[in-house]
Amino acid sequence: MILFVDDEEQVLLSLKRLFRSEPYEVVFATSGSSALELLAARGEEVEVIVTDQRMPNMTGTEFLIRSQEFAPTAVRMVMTGYSDIQVTIDAINKGGATRYISKPWDNQEMLGYVQEALSRFRHDLKLRTDLQKVHEQQRHHQQHFSALFGALAGFIDLSLPEARRHAAITAKLSVGIGVSLGLSPTDLEKIRMAALLHDIGLNTLSSDVAEMDPLCMTDSQFALYRSHPVMGQSMIETVEHLHDIALIVRHHHEYFDGSGFPDGLAAEAIPQGSAIICLADTLESEMEISGDKVPLQKVLEKVSARSGTEFDPQLIPHMVRVAEDMYRGR
Ligand SMILES: [Fe+2]
Ligand SMILES: [Fe+2]
Repeated sequence: MILFVDDEEQVLLSLKRLFRSEPYEVVFATSGSSALELLAARGEEVEVIVTDQRMPNMTGTEFLIRSQEFAPTAVRMVMTGYSDIQVTIDAINKGGATRYISKPWDNQEMLGYVQEALSRFRHDLKLRTDLQKVHEQQRHHQQHFSALFGALAGFIDLSLPEARRHAAITAKLSVGIGVSLGLSPTDLEKIRMAALLHDIGLNTLSSDVAEMDPLCMTDSQFALYRSHPVMGQSMIETVEHLHDIALIVRHHHEYFDGSGFPDGLAAEAIPQGSAIICLADTLESEMEISGDKVPLQKVLEKVSARSGTEFDPQLIPHMVRVAEDMYRGR
C-alpha cells in the first residue's frame, strides 16, 4: 500500500488519476496529523510513503520522523516545489527519506520511483524474513544440542566413567583428521558431535558387557555389543535435526572391506564421518591399551596395518599427521 500526503487537494487528485490504472492500493491524507492517524490504524500495510515537504502545522520531515513509530520499515520519499538543500538533507537524514522528488513531477518518473520503492520494500521484507528464519533455526538447533548434551552426556558420565574421556579424545582426533582433509565447518561440527556420542548406545547394555573387551565376549554378549551403534542412532534420532549425526553414529563400526557392522557397508558406501570416527576410535583405544611405554610410531604402525581392510587407505596419512601432532613427545 502507498500513502501520499499533501495539503493541496489538487495534488492528491492528480496523483489519484495517475495511479488509477496501476495495480497498487493507494491511500491519501491532507495533513501530517491525519496521515499519522491512518498509519496508527494501518501502519503495517503501508509499504511506501510519499509526502509533501511544505505543509501547514507539520512539515514533511516532521511527519516522516513521527511516522517511523507506526511504519518503521516503509520506504519514504519527500516531494518539494522548491529546492532547499538543508530541507532535503533533513528529510533524508532525520526523516529516513530515500529520495527527493521535485514538484511538478514527471508522471513517468513518479511511477518509476514508486515502483522502485515498492520493490525495495518487498526485497528488504524478504531479507528480514529469511534472516529471522535462519536465526530461529539456529536457536532451535542450539536448544536441541544443549538438551541432547545435557541429558545424554550426563548419562555417559554416570554409567561409564571412562566413556567421556574416550569420546572427547576420539572427537578431537576425528576433527583433526577432518580439518586435514579440508572438510567444511558444518561437516566438522557434525563429526565432532557424532564422535562425542558415538558409543552412547553402550548405555543400553548392562555395565559388565559395556565395559568388557569385545575380544573376551561370549557369542551372546558380542551380539548385544554389536547392537550399540543402532541403539545409539535411535537414541540420537529422537532429537529433531540430528538425523545426520545419528546416521554417522550408526556406521562407526563399518569396515572399509565390508566386514564391519551393523550393515556391512564398504568403501564409499560408508559415510565419511563414520569412517573417520572408526579410525580415530581405534587409534584412541590402541593408545590407551599400550600405555606410556609403547612409542607412538609402534601404535601408528599397528593401526596402519589394518589399512584397506578396516580403514580407508586415504585416511591413514591424515591420521598419522594428526596423531604426531596430538601425541607429540611420545
Ligand atoms: Fe563403538
Ligand atoms: Fe568407541
